[in-house]
Amino acid sequence: MALISELGKQIKLKEVEGTLLQPATVDNWSQIQSFEAKPDDLLICTYPKAGTTWIQEIVDMIEQNGDVEKCQRAIIQHRHPFIEWARPPQPSETGFHHVAQVGLELLSSSNPPASTSQSPKITDLLPPSFWENNCKFLYVARNAKDCMVSYYHFQRMNHTLPDPGTWEEYFETFISGKVVWGSWFDHVKGWWEMKDRYQILFLFYEDIKRDPKHEIRKVMQFMGKNLDETVLDKIVQETSFEKMKENPMTNRSTVSKSIMDQSISSFMRKGTVGDWKNHFTVAQNERFDEIYRKKMEGTSINFCMEL
Ligand code: A3P
Repeated sequence: MALISELGKQIKLKEVEGTLLQPATVDNWSQIQSFEAKPDDLLICTYPKAGTTWIQEIVDMIEQNGDVEKCQRAIIQHRHPFIEWARPPQPSETGFHHVAQVGLELLSSSNPPASTSQSPKITDLLPPSFWENNCKFLYVARNAKDCMVSYYHFQRMNHTLPDPGTWEEYFETFISGKVVWGSWFDHVKGWWEMKDRYQILFLFYEDIKRDPKHEIRKVMQFMGKNLDETVLDKIVQETSFEKMKENPMTNRSTVSKSIMDQSISSFMRKGTVGDWKNHFTVAQNERFDEIYRKKMEGTSINFCMEL
């Protein structure tokens, strides 16, 4: 029997509504779509590598009132299961009943609805019950260039994803959106354009990095919690990159090496803003900026690409 790591290079992604996804996600698509969200669910949504694990841990720390022991009850993938893994949340593992039970990396819409009666791409990909129940969404966006770098290293070490090839090859793959969860541009733009129509708290990785307490307070308020300053300070400390890199409940050290080989690249790799400068050539950067301008034209989102 072939090892998963040997199979990695042969993985063929599948497509739903023009978005590439992992084969297991597509195979379980109808089950995923029938997920029954409850009105007080909170859905964490991110493009891959935008800081999903970070915001998951922040949300759990807030939910557990800063109780570190409680946040050690299970690995983060079990405390906040990904919908696309089609594994029903286990209340005994998550510690949540109807609140904040799902972490997920979803979806894109270059064509958000003008009214709710239309059937846009975004509602096609997300289980409809989230919209029907007017659930809360917590979206984290990260600078596209840093996402690309992080995703490149992630695909090198994650044997359930296609081999990224060389950096030059991956650059082309990423800008053409031929990665799991599709184009960064469609994803971020799609959620940005939806943010005023639904209960969406739109955060930026770079802001959390710059002023974690300020952003964590926003998340707390969005979740309807009221924690005092000392608890907030503790959450800032416990969710720092250094702490989460050492924490077996967040650093994926419990995942088999045949799936994630951390000797190739750590899951908690650098956790910085601007690592793209160590990867992009001047020519790649100019080309990327041009593509960015075109793709993001007409949106009011203001990413500083020079970060
Ligand atoms: P890098 O590869 O740039 O280091 P995701 O959880 O969506 O897969 O995102 C992973 C990225 O978020 C990685 O980026 C990881 O290091 C970074 N990250 C995870 N926890 C973090 C934290 N507490 N602070 C800052 N960055 C963090």
